[in-house]
Order: sequence, then structure tokens, then C-alpha cells
Amino acid sequence: MSETTAAPVDLFEKVRNHERREQLEAANAADLNPYFRLLTSQAGPVVEMEGRETIMLGSNNYLGLTGDERVSRAAHEALDKYGTGVTGSRLLNGTTPLHVELETELAEWMETEATIVFSTGYQSNLGCLQAILGPGDTVIADSGDHASILDGCKLSGAKLRPFRHNQMDKLERMLQRSQTDGGGILVVVDGVYSMEGDLPDLPRITELAHAYGARLMVDEAHGVGVLGKRGAGATELFGLEDQVDLRMGTFSKSLASCGGFIAGSSDLVEYLKISSRSFIFSASGVPAAVGAALEAVRICRDEGPALYSRLLSNAEYLREGLRSLGLKVVEPGLGPDGEVATTPVVPVVIGDDWKAILVWKALFEAGVYTNVAIHPAVPHGGALLRTSLMATHETAHLDQALEIIEAVTSQFDDLPSPDAN
Ligand SMILES: Cc1ncc(COP(=O)(O)O)c(C=O)c1O
Repeated sequence: MSETTAAPVDLFEKVRNHERREQLEAANAADLNPYFRLLTSQAGPVVEMEGRETIMLGSNNYLGLTGDERVSRAAHEALDKYGTGVTGSRLLNGTTPLHVELETELAEWMETEATIVFSTGYQSNLGCLQAILGPGDTVIADSGDHASILDGCKLSGAKLRPFRHNQMDKLERMLQRSQTDGGGILVVVDGVYSMEGDLPDLPRITELAHAYGARLMVDEAHGVGVLGKRGAGATELFGLEDQVDLRMGTFSKSLASCGGFIAGSSDLVEYLKISSRSFIFSASGVPAAVGAALEAVRICRDEGPALYSRLLSNAEYLREGLRSLGLKVVEPGLGPDGEVATTPVVPVVIGDDWKAILVWKALFEAGVYTNVAIHPAVPHGGALLRTSLMATHETAHLDQALEIIEAVTSQFDDLPSPDAN
């Protein structure tokens, strides 16, 4: 090193001085950290957390299938037959008959030509977007899209043109601008936005994408096993299955397991199988996870409608209850008939990060678990207490939770009111 060369900054400086450090330390010191809390039972409507019985309003186990005997038996059988892991990628040595059966059943359920199963939902988005987009292409993404979409877009090297959440005029402006970018164009939206629980205006998005020659991808992580008569997601709910080019789903919510998939045309799926890096260079989903997901898909196809309807009426019940307590609830947007839709995610707007954490803690101590969403999961100043429902919640659970929420929130006199901006 020459004498005039400055010493490099310590790479780990950010570890000691990141922007969240002070906040995190203060939260830990006061036992206010809402993350990494210990769940010491199954993820049912009532759980044990840190030794206490708690009403669970923060799980994505929408259909309650993680505790279903058939799903658990299928996981055991897969484990007994194929072992604890496959120790390699799908491409080389990690494809069992279970993976193939799951792909076939998913394609039938989604009514697409084919599907490809990844080890996580995150990897499904990452690997799909990295493979179908490249430098020179343009991807137009809603600002509320899941982080795995954003990461896949970045990894692809395509030009990213984000538009303000659910603003159709902004989407159109991005489509106009992308006409001279020179490459292929993809629009990517969530079928149900994970934090806000609202729906995209899928009919208008489809119309715009087609008018401007763009392909369309919908992330159905919170739509599969929830929306539509078959439970195929928001795309089915809006009757647009033949107009959406690509759908992504995950097993980590309604399907009671871990893993994810992309559904689309056979040629697209064949292409992903040989070009998707998170598929090729990562170990295949473990047999127990694949067996559980396969059984959950079968349950959805056989008896899904009764479960979806219980889930959504629970969501409606809680939403009405929260509204009647004077809390500001994020509205889910409109469904295909122009009526207000229902999704299983019912967030309460708090606004300030610290306040959200204080309300969360008071609820947690009183026996209700919710999720706290602060920046970057939501925009600055838009902190939410995200509640989510299960088909297995009973009215008594929800009534008890509402009583606790009323008692706790009435101690905070400046929470946003329903008509606040
Ligand atoms: C909208 C959305 N897409 C993708 C994912 C990633 O799925 P997984 O957690 O199964 O990897 C999630 C999960 O949080 C999600 O909410």
C-alpha cells in the first residue's frame, strides 16, 4: 500500500452503526421488540407464546391446515419414504415422484399448462424474474410488491420502473415510457398485497398491459387457497386466468408447508427449469414439505370452498369489529362485481413506528398476537398492526380478541380515526 492511500473504511462499520441500531437497542432494553418472539406450540387460532395462551391474529396459516391430520400424515409418509432431505437440486438429484405429482396437481388446479416447484416462495419470484428478464428489458412493479419481486427484478439487470401503489394512471405512464426502452416489458403485481391486504385493480392492469404490449405476472402468495371459487387466487376471482401470463404461489400460507411455484405455459416452465438460478443452484424442497403441500392442495381441490368461505367470513367479522371500535382499517379495494372485497389480511393503521410497537406490546401482554409492520415493509409513517385470520378461528376467539383490542386501544387516545388520511 502506498503511503498516500487512505486506509479502507471498515466493512463492518454498518454492523455497529446501522440506522436501526438505536431503536433496536431501546426496544430490546424495554422488552418491546415485536420480532423473533417464541412460538411454543402449533400455529392454531390459539397458540402458546412465551409460556402464555395467546389468540393468534398474526399467522398466514389461513386454512388452519398446518394442524390437519391428513397433512401431517402425508408429511410423515414422505419423510419415511424419501428421508429427511434430498441433498441436491431438482436438476441433479432432488426430484422425487412427489415433486412431479405436486407440479401436475398444481397445474390442474391453476388450470395452466404447467408449473415448476421451488424450495421457497421467495426463490420462486427471484428465480423466475431473474430468468425471464434481462438487461435491456423493462419491469414495471407496484411499489407495494413483495421484496422477493423487487430482488428478482434487481438481480435480472432489467430496467425497473416502479409505480405508486395501485395508481393506474402511474402504471400507464410507466407503460408509455417503457415503449422506447427497447426490450420486452413485464408488469408485476401482487394478487393480494401482503401487508395492506388490498387487491390490485386486475381488470384495468390486464387491459393496460395488453394495450402496451407488456406481459403480466401476478404473485398469488396470499390469493392461492383463499380467493376464487377454486381457490386459485385473485386472477381466478377476477376471471382473468387466460390473460395473465405468469402466476406465482407459495406453500407457506394456505398450503401449510414451505416452498413455492410458478404456473404458466409449458414452454415457459421448461425454460425456467434450465435457466432459473434459484432453482438450479439450490437444494430441492425436503420430502416432508413437498408431501404436506401436495396433501394441502388435494384438500383445497376437494373441500376448499367451505374453508375459503369460513376464512373470509371470519375476516369480514373482525374487520367490522375493528371498524366499530373506531379504528382505521385498511380497505381491501373492490372485487370483480364492484363490491368491497374481502381478504384474510386486516391491518389497522397506526402510523408512527413506536406507537405501533407500544400498542402491539400491550396487546401481546393482554393475550392477542398481531404483526407489526414498520418501514421498510410499509412506507415511512405508515406503520400497521397487521391482523390475519384463519378458517379455524371461532367467533368466540374473535369476540375475545375484539374485547382485548378495545380495552388496549382505548388507553391510546391519539390513534388514527377511520376518516383520517
Ligand atoms: C406476496 C409474497 N410473495 C412472496 C413471498 C415469499 O414466500 P415464502 O415466504 O413462502 O418464501 C411472500 C411471503 O412472505 C409474500 O407475502
